[in-house]
Amino acid sequence: MVEELWYKNAIIYSLDLETFMDYNGDGVGDFEGLARRLDYLHAMGVDTLWLAPFQPTPNKDNGYDIKDYYGVDPRHGSSGNFVEFMHQANKRGLKVIIDLVVNHTSDEHPWFQNARSGKDAKLRDWYIWSEKKPSDWDEGMVFPGVQEATWTYDKKAKAYYYHRFYKFQPDLNVNNQEVRDEICRIMGFWIELGVAGFRVDAVPFLLETPAPGPPKPELKFNYLRELRRFLQWRRGDAVFLGEANVLPEETKKYFGEEGEGIHMMFNFYVNQHLFYALATGDTAPLIEALEKTRLHSPVSQWAHFLRNHDELDLGRLTEEQRQKVFARFGPDEDMQLYGRGIRRRLSTMLGNRQQSELAYSLMFSLPGTPVIRYGDEIGMGDDLDLKERSAVRTPMQWSADKQAGFSAADKLIHPVIDKGPYGYEHVNVDRQRRTPDSLLNWMTTMVRLRHECTEIGWGDWEILDTGNPSVLGMHYHWQGSSLLILHNFGEKACEVIIDLKTIKIGELIDLMRLESCTADKKGRHTINLEAYGYRWFRAEGLTHLMKKS
Ligand code: NOJ
Repeated sequence: MVEELWYKNAIIYSLDLETFMDYNGDGVGDFEGLARRLDYLHAMGVDTLWLAPFQPTPNKDNGYDIKDYYGVDPRHGSSGNFVEFMHQANKRGLKVIIDLVVNHTSDEHPWFQNARSGKDAKLRDWYIWSEKKPSDWDEGMVFPGVQEATWTYDKKAKAYYYHRFYKFQPDLNVNNQEVRDEICRIMGFWIELGVAGFRVDAVPFLLETPAPGPPKPELKFNYLRELRRFLQWRRGDAVFLGEANVLPEETKKYFGEEGEGIHMMFNFYVNQHLFYALATGDTAPLIEALEKTRLHSPVSQWAHFLRNHDELDLGRLTEEQRQKVFARFGPDEDMQLYGRGIRRRLSTMLGNRQQSELAYSLMFSLPGTPVIRYGDEIGMGDDLDLKERSAVRTPMQWSADKQAGFSAADKLIHPVIDKGPYGYEHVNVDRQRRTPDSLLNWMTTMVRLRHECTEIGWGDWEILDTGNPSVLGMHYHWQGSSLLILHNFGEKACEVIIDLKTIKIGELIDLMRLESCTADKKGRHTINLEAYGYRWFRAEGLTHLMKKS
């Protein structure tokens, strides 16, 4: 029963403890603060939270450098606070997914400290070493321009260690059975505390087998199956949400045969082509990206997002396409990062409400599970004075009070945005809650609409011929229920004629306004779209307005 798969119609909200809500006033967000904001999230209608890493960390990579997998960083509270938060989340029916960052640890992790202590150290083989300087020591960096190498010499260890990311993040050797056992223990620990799954960090790198010399192309997909088996033994409905920015033809291996691989993966490929469509008004490459990433198994699922905590990675576009997106959304050098991306939030890139609505409406309508980034629901901006990806990691803007209502402290972990049109005095939750036509209220409506449109998560879809390259039309159907969703990426209003040919539908009921659209004698529908307009219809005659589930 595909309806059993909760993740197929979930709505995920991603946040970082550090910048969400500081309860104890030390300038860093904490679990007590987050617990007090659960009613806000619940009222918005999201049903799943994805928490960025919150375990003890030297915090040199926003928590993606963990030094103890079995605890809570004291800045965010205690294990007791975590369990209390889980209780409060579950009480509201909210599921919680956490990051699983096991491709690498922090270099301060006791495992690495032991491993570097000598050739015969107990945990030496938990990491990847080379006594000689590898010929490819400066190849394959994930953060070009900032990261200098992938093999770094450690004096104490008297050897080079491998790190796909920053040098303070040594890669674990997952070919070692003890390491694999430990990773299972980590998953088992958090599952026992009630989490509904894991956002698996850096999946392709976790599967590679690094060794000095030219890269080995084979990835250990068997290992994914092993992880999946363990997860499901421990909790039948727990899921993996994988971070793997790979080409469409590679994705099948990650999803695996039915029930064997990753349940959900972020669709980076569609994300990049979506921004191309927003930048140029041309939907053809987006349609191609959707078709290329079409899934054929009912248990596999894409997660669709607009922005995340990293740069907007445009590495999969052609050079010409990338330059067009840069020109429109990140023209200045300091808006760009690692030669491939843009370090800005959605609102500042798009610059107007209509296009933000278009983008979000599209995200909710794509075949997959939508993921909202904290702060995007109120249109928060970025701070380009902060370094690298920190630009998009500023504290949540709750109100016009001091420090945006985020904290009572004078000094914060990251400064709040207090200048310009995106400053907290203008853009904040409190204000938008009391403004009927605010982005926040619009978003809440969209979340409800998406919950009602379960055809998207469970059904099949096809691209409609709209006769206009700026208009994306999608048709979903599921057990006799049918949805038509149109998005106009063009800056001009337009009219499109939709002919479903094989499927006879009568009236189209607009799900967002009191309007409907009847077919002409030939069964065609003529639909008007405003500039950057979007419309969601359910086909009357085939089904009722509300979901059939
Ligand atoms: C991917 C995460 O999204 C990113 O923020 C982090 O720097 C790397 N993985 C390394 O963990």
